[in-house]
Amino acid sequence: MEQSLVLIKPDGVKHSNIGDIITRFERKGLKIEAIKMLWMDEELAREHYGEHAGKDFFPNLIDYITAGPIVALVIGGQEAIRVIRNMAGATDPIEARPGTIRGDLAADLEHGNVIHASDSPASAQKEIELFFTADEIFSY
Ligand code: CMP
Repeated sequence: MEQSLVLIKPDGVKHSNIGDIITRFERKGLKIEAIKMLWMDEELAREHYGEHAGKDFFPNLIDYITAGPIVALVIGGQEAIRVIRNMAGATDPIEARPGTIRGDLAADLEHGNVIHASDSPASAQKEIELFFTADEIFSY
């Protein structure tokens, strides 16, 4: 079984989409192995998005992800990383297909793209350790 880190971003929380998003993962047969609400500070945001440091959109990304509370989840399942990224849809909601989370729940990148999902096993491991301690994650 594989694990992925998912963040329901400030726009997803503000627009009351927490339940909708979690329900999609549960209906797909994925397991919620850890969950918490938090408000990311700049330090955590810079660490989480370190690979984007120096890009044009980086300052806006830090402002966006620290603008309000988020929900962090560890989600497990077979090929969980690929399955969740398929469910999330394209990074830019304008390109995201209907039926995907971003296709259904977001308008455009400027207004946010609702969720983050790990893009590889290596980043999943690093991201999970940033947000959760081992005793906050449950296998059942
Ligand atoms: P996420 O999957 O969390 O990874 C990086 C984030 O940067 C992305 O979602 C968007 O929220 C944000 N972002 C803003 N502009 C861009 C861009 N031009 N390309 C990629 N990501 C962007």
